[in-house]
Amino acid sequence: MVGLWVGRKTDINRLNNHITYLMKNFFITLIAIILFTSCQKENKLSDKEIAQYISKGKEIGKVTVQKLGGNLMKHMKSGGIKEAIPFCNTNANNLTNEIANKYHVSIKRTSHKLRNEANKPNKEEKIVLERYLAQIKNGEQLKPKIEKDKNGKVHFYAPMKLQGKCLACHGDIANTSTDSIIKSLYPNDKAIGFKNGDFRGVLSVTFNE
Ligand code: HEC
Repeated sequence: MVGLWVGRKTDINRLNNHITYLMKNFFITLIAIILFTSCQKENKLSDKEIAQYISKGKEIGKVTVQKLGGNLMKHMKSGGIKEAIPFCNTNANNLTNEIANKYHVSIKRTSHKLRNEANKPNKEEKIVLERYLAQIKNGEQLKPKIEKDKNGKVHFYAPMKLQGKCLACHGDIANTSTDSIIKSLYPNDKAIGFKNGDFRGVLSVTFNE
């Protein structure tokens, strides 16, 4: 009898241990799943969200290029390069800030060949620039990109191409009078020697919602 009772007790103990073991595992698995899905939520966007951010980014990019280009050409026409360069120097960032405020984003233009040191790429933008340069080497087509950083902020990056009208200030102008005006404002200027259609840099938009 006693033996049987002890036996039963052992069985119950074993069962208890087993249940505790299962529960522990269950909770560990549950916590792992919760952590995993919440991490995923933080770092991954759905395809639909990516498409929405891409189209918003493209719209902001278009407005920025139109506004900067339009104002630049207006000054080129009225006062030539001598007026247009100081205009870029003092107003480019004011104009992009106006658009940035309207769309609740930050807008930055950056490049592997910089003119204005203030437009220097940050760590992420450096990676983006290098990725585009590698894609050019491989003959791949450059596309805008959406990325979510570890703080949950969404970034839109778009490659910028140089057009014919940009060459007056970014083309083969070494040792010309335009170059000396530019060098007087930006002694470390590296943004010349481009050809029509060249990759000029990246438009970097950060969504601030
Ligand atoms: C009248 C001269 C002029 C023309 C034309 C011009 N730029 Fe610039 N560009 C500048 C100056 C000056 C700066 C530096 C001021 C600034 O931060 O925008 C600059 C800066 C830039 C930058 C910021 C990155 C950096 O190197 O500092 C980009 C990108 C750029 N230009 C692209 C273009 C493109 C694309 C075009 C043609 C659509 C163009 N530029 C036409 C004078 C010019």
